Amino acid sequence: MFTIAGTTFDSPFVLAPLAGYTDLPFRLLCRRYGAGLVVTEMISCHGLLYGQEKTRRMLVSDVAEQPVSIQLFGSDPDIMGKAAAILNDFSPSFIDINMGCPVRKVTKRGAGSALMKDITLAEKILTAVVSNSNVPVTVKTRAGVDKQQITAIDFAKMSENAGAAAIAIHGRTWAQGFTGSADWEIVSKVKNSVTIPVIGNGDVRSYDEAIARMDETGCDGIMIGRAALGNPWVFQKKGKPENILEILPAVMEHLKLMEQHLDTRRQLAYIRNHTGRYFCNFEGSSQIRRAIHDCPDFRTLQDLITSLLQ
Ligand SMILES: Cc1cc2nc3c(=O)[nH]c(=O)nc-3n(C[C@H](O)[C@H](O)[C@H](O)COP(=O)(O)O)c2cc1C
Repeated sequence: MFTIAGTTFDSPFVLAPLAGYTDLPFRLLCRRYGAGLVVTEMISCHGLLYGQEKTRRMLVSDVAEQPVSIQLFGSDPDIMGKAAAILNDFSPSFIDINMGCPVRKVTKRGAGSALMKDITLAEKILTAVVSNSNVPVTVKTRAGVDKQQITAIDFAKMSENAGAAAIAIHGRTWAQGFTGSADWEIVSKVKNSVTIPVIGNGDVRSYDEAIARMDETGCDGIMIGRAALGNPWVFQKKGKPENILEILPAVMEHLKLMEQHLDTRRQLAYIRNHTGRYFCNFEGSSQIRRAIHDCPDFRTLQDLITSLLQ
């Protein structure tokens, strides 16, 4: 059974934080389809402190998605600590600290992957967040800086000592970005080095693959990101249906959740992008994607999906 700091999950599979995707509707959908834990998009500690409207919108939650983890990023221990204190008002189940994002906009300020180069600073950040948070704090990081500097084991030990309740390891280095493939041996090594739960991440495309990775590495949970887009069935043994008539009800359900929680006039391009991802690898899918792309408004998009059901 997958447990973090006393919370037991109904599945060992975690929806990864995906900036631009893991908003409330998608998190709710993935929980309904079997993810045991879901993680928000990364939230800037500065945005939180300055009460930015966009940041506040990203924090909207619903009890139905719990357990949910809010992911924070930043490089200043003081500001990260203050941001964690603000998050107490939002009652997340966990706070996760992003120590693995390779995107330049994040690393140039010393956050995300850049923290793997400065374990002392990473420790200060973690300590500040742990001491200001009412909920358990977890860390998400990568295998290391590059092939020569594989830091995950030291990082995991530091995290455990500084009070992290669990650690997620994406088996790529900072230098790799999203190229090449994830190294799962490092996940095994980390699992053998700490006693806190270890969540493996990287390139998992199906339920069976996730189970195989757990067996092979002994890790406690599996985090799935890209493979969940347009495919919440990735959290289920039976996987994505091959028949479009079985796919459409999930698309309708996702659209309904988006209608409930998003501004469907302002976020149409975003909604079309999420919706289009359901349609790939079967006959006629490129035409459907094109038709979705051409929908001028949310209602037309809903009607299009409804008409495909008939
Ligand atoms: C579009 C996109 C956005 C991402 N946003 C975040 C993020 O906000 N925080 C984070 O820690 N990782 C982020 N990641 C990394 C994923 O959480 C995950 O570690 C990575 O995609 C590898 O897992 P996968 O192969 O299952 O997708 C992002 C990845 C992608 C592709």
